[in-house]
Amino acid sequence: MEATPAPATLDLPAIQALAAPDMAAVDALIRRRLASDVVLVNQVAEHIVAAGGKRLRPMLLLLAARALGHGGAEAHQLAAVIEFIHTATLLHDDVVDESDLRRGRKTANALFGNAASVLVGDFLYSRSFQLMVELERMPVMKILADATNAIAEGEVLQLLHVRNPDTDEVAYLKVIERKTAVLFAAATRSGALLAGADAATQQRLHDYGMALGYAFQIADDVLDYSADEAALGKHLGDDLAEGKATLPLIHAIRHSDADTRARLRTIVEHGDVGAMPEVLAAIAATGGIAYSRGRAEDYADAAERALDGLDDNDAVAALRGLARYAVRRDH
Ligand code: IPE
Ligand code: IPE
Ligand code: MG
Ligand code: MG
Repeated sequence: MEATPAPATLDLPAIQALAAPDMAAVDALIRRRLASDVVLVNQVAEHIVAAGGKRLRPMLLLLAARALGHGGAEAHQLAAVIEFIHTATLLHDDVVDESDLRRGRKTANALFGNAASVLVGDFLYSRSFQLMVELERMPVMKILADATNAIAEGEVLQLLHVRNPDTDEVAYLKVIERKTAVLFAAATRSGALLAGADAATQQRLHDYGMALGYAFQIADDVLDYSADEAALGKHLGDDLAEGKATLPLIHAIRHSDADTRARLRTIVEHGDVGAMPEVLAAIAATGGIAYSRGRAEDYADAAERALDGLDDNDAVAALRGLARYAVRRDH
C-alpha cells in the first residue's frame, strides 16, 4: 500500500507571491479609504498604516475565499475592513499597554498622545463599519460585528487579570481566544461566506482561523520573551512590565520550586520588568519557551487538520503554510 502523500504547503515567500496582486489592490483601497478632512486623523492613521505590518488577516481572508474559488472587488473591500478593525485594536492596545514601539516605529500614543490614539482608533472602527455596510451582506456584517465586540471583551478580560499571579493557562486561553483568535476566525469564515460556501465548509474555515489565532498569539507571547527586538519591531518585556502573565511565565510559576514561585508571583503583582533576568532564568529552568512553542504548534496542527476536507489547490497550500509561519516567525 502506498503512503498517503503529505498535503501540499507553501513557504512565506511563495504565499506572498501568490497573494501579491490581491494584496496590492487591498493596500490601495486601504490608503484611499483612510482619508479624512481632519488633518490629525490622517496623520495618526497614516503613521500606523504606512509602517506596514504583516497584513496577515486580510491575506487570510483573501486566501480563504480563493481556496473556495472566489476573488475580486468584494473580497478586497472586506480584507480592508478586517485590517482597519485590526489597526484600531492596535491603536487602543498600545495605549492600554503603554507600549512605545510598534512596527519598528514609535507608537502613535508615544508620538501623538493617548487621546489622539484612542480617538483615531474609534475613527478606524467606524470607517470599517462604513466599508462593511457598503457590501450589503448581512451575514458578513454579523460575523464582523460579533468579532469586534469579542475583541473588546477580550481586552477587558485581560485587564481583569493584570497583576494577578493566579492567572492560569485556562484563563489565559479564554483571553487570547477573544482578543486575537476570534478576528482570525472572522477573516477566514467571511472569506468562505463570500465564496458562497456551505455551512460545513464555513465551519472548517472558521475552525482553521480560530486555531491559527491561538497559535499566533501564543507565538507573540513567546516572542515578547525571546525575540530579537529589532526584528520584532516591538520592545521585549512589554507583557511583564504590564503585569501580564502570558504562557511562558504561567508555566514557570506552575513548575518552579516554592521560593521561586513566591518570587515570580511578587514580580507579576508589581509588573516588575527590572526583574526580567530572574523571570527569564525561571522560564529557562522550567522549559517555558519550549512548552509554549509546543502548545502553539499543537494549535497550528489543529488549524491544518481543519482544512483536511477541502480540495487541494494553491490557496489551501498557502493557508497550510501560514499555519506553520504563525508559530515559526521572528516578528
Ligand atoms: C499584533 O498583531 C497583535 C497580536 C494579535 C499579537 P500582528 O503581529 O499581526 O501585527 P502587525 O499588523 O503585523 O503589525
Ligand atoms: C494583542 O495583544 C491583542 C490585540 C491587539 C487585540 P498584545 O498586547 O500581546 O499585542 P502586542 O504584543 O502589543 O502587539
Ligand atoms: Mg500590546
Ligand atoms: Mg504581545
